[in-house]
Amino acid sequence: MNIHKICILGSGTLGSRVALQAAISGYQVSVYDIQEKALDFGFKTMKKILHQLEKGQLLKEPQEKILARIYFTTDPKKAIQDADFVNESVTEDVELKKKVWKQISEIAPEKTIFTTNTSYLLPSMFAEESGRPKKFCAFHFHDVFYSRVVDIMPNPETDPALIPILEQLGRSLNQVPVLVKKENPGYIFNTMLLALIGAAGKLLTGEVGSVEDIDRSWMVNFHMPMGPFGILDSIGLDTAWHVTKTRKDSASQAFAALLKEYLDAGKLGEKSGEGFYTYPNPAYKAADFIK
Ligand SMILES: NC(=O)c1ccc[n+]([C@@H]2O[C@H](COP(=O)([O-])OP(=O)(O)OC[C@H]3O[C@@H](n4cnc5c(N)ncnc54)[C@H](O)[C@@H]3O)[C@@H](O)[C@H]2O)c1
Repeated sequence: MNIHKICILGSGTLGSRVALQAAISGYQVSVYDIQEKALDFGFKTMKKILHQLEKGQLLKEPQEKILARIYFTTDPKKAIQDADFVNESVTEDVELKKKVWKQISEIAPEKTIFTTNTSYLLPSMFAEESGRPKKFCAFHFHDVFYSRVVDIMPNPETDPALIPILEQLGRSLNQVPVLVKKENPGYIFNTMLLALIGAAGKLLTGEVGSVEDIDRSWMVNFHMPMGPFGILDSIGLDTAWHVTKTRKDSASQAFAALLKEYLDAGKLGEKSGEGFYTYPNPAYKAADFIK
């Protein structure tokens, strides 16, 4: 199948990144969100990333030409019109995603492939609402530009013929596709990441170590540019809270309660300018942080 037009649902942290990479890769892109201010956020995020890519001489075309391929709208019908492929990046909430997929199933062309970028939910949870379970699959990015794995995770009804199409699409989006052979919350990498984040949260709420020392331990021993709390800030503490609060063990519940305090104070991580660290110059990036 030839994919020309890609529609992105949700213009937040991930939706804006996937949309930008699709435009860089030469696709026509539409970005749909319910809020104008989310579309503004998406556009600003894209400009910021383009600026960094340009500085690193990683762009083959002028920024304006890339941005001209992206159409932002709060009208779902205009967004989905003639789309060959949809990737949904709305808030990590099962009921909301069901609602969005039902709405999209009623207005999308028959040819359109449906995919979700959910982090920890399963595609089978919304396959029925999508109205086309055979053409519905998880297609899950990480941060798109720095962490470039894309997970392909079918629901039990996904047509196997879709997998090579998605693998090829993933490569065209400068990602490394991996096939998750059966539904697993967290795919492959996030299952491992959740174990790390959960352990870091437990160390913090149990007052065993500070945010900085927990991050330092990980960064120094594994030669990593950021630790678990830097990672959480880049993911967004709201997304992290949605995931953590669904876990019933007491350590996860304690960490979810701490994350909620940050959210109530308006601290969502990098996207709001403050989370465990303050941005744009978080302490963990300073040269003396790991001295
Ligand atoms: N943040 C990450 O690092 C990351 C990585 C991979 C996957 N994801 C997944 O991507 C999805 C989005 O996460 P995010 O971090 O970008 O969240 P976000 O909060 O930054 O963005 C979510 C967007 O969805 C929009 N939205 C809410 N209801 C909507 C509706 N009915 N129709 C259209 N748009 C709607 C919101 O206005 C918001 O702009 C989640 O499922 C998350 O698990 C996130």
